[in-house]
Amino acid sequence: MPKPVGSPSGPIVAPSILSADFGRLHDQVQAAEQAGAGWIHVDVMDGHFVPNITIGPLVVRAVRRATQLPVDVHLMVSEPDSLVEAFVDAGADVVTVHSEACVHLQRTLRRIRDLGASVGVALNPHTPETVLSYVGRDIDLVLVMTVNPGFGGQAFLPSVVPKIRALRSWVDEAGLPIVIEVDGGIGPGTAALVARAGARVLVAGSAVFGQPDLRKAIEAIEREARVEAEVTS
Ligand code: DX5
Ligand code: ZN
Repeated sequence: MPKPVGSPSGPIVAPSILSADFGRLHDQVQAAEQAGAGWIHVDVMDGHFVPNITIGPLVVRAVRRATQLPVDVHLMVSEPDSLVEAFVDAGADVVTVHSEACVHLQRTLRRIRDLGASVGVALNPHTPETVLSYVGRDIDLVLVMTVNPGFGGQAFLPSVVPKIRALRSWVDEAGLPIVIEVDGGIGPGTAALVARAGARVLVAGSAVFGQPDLRKAIEAIEREARVEAEVTS
């Protein structure tokens, strides 16, 4: 059985440490938790799948030690199969792989589930949600990229919003217990759009760690998302 994902209802803000000060990462993660973060999002980049290199399991272990919150690991790597175990061992609660990086996607998802973590699949902006049609039962979370992955602080791509809506319909109609997460350019101003479309977990890097007051930053996103989710429910 995978570990439970998140709280029973309401939006979850997942600050991405990509925009944190890595020189004081422990303090930054704790500050995010105290400021009301729901999950901590960790962006792993290999310089191959995306044109940037970030961190590995050692840093995930350090994040794990700093917080009680679910640690949400987003693997932007070309061949995740050989790496997932190290990230689960390091304390990842959710491990998300990119569909574009997995030739045998179902096998990779199965491996993550067998390791005891919650299973996520990320979709690049150009990837249709239909790639998941036959793996719905193997997934706990879909991460919809609203930028091309690789960097923080990029502009939100509104063209992806219909995909969030399509996923919401699929999940609801099929009765699948899948959480929809969005990542890239999320903050006040875009949180409403994605929440209205059906996203529940909102990753935010620069809109949280780039701000002087973390609590205000998280609350602003959460408030916007909650209002919109209530309007549509
Ligand atoms: C982008 C990463 C994101 C990034 C988001 O490749 O997956 O998680 O940190 O940063 P913002 O919120 O600044 O767009
Ligand atoms: Zn991410």
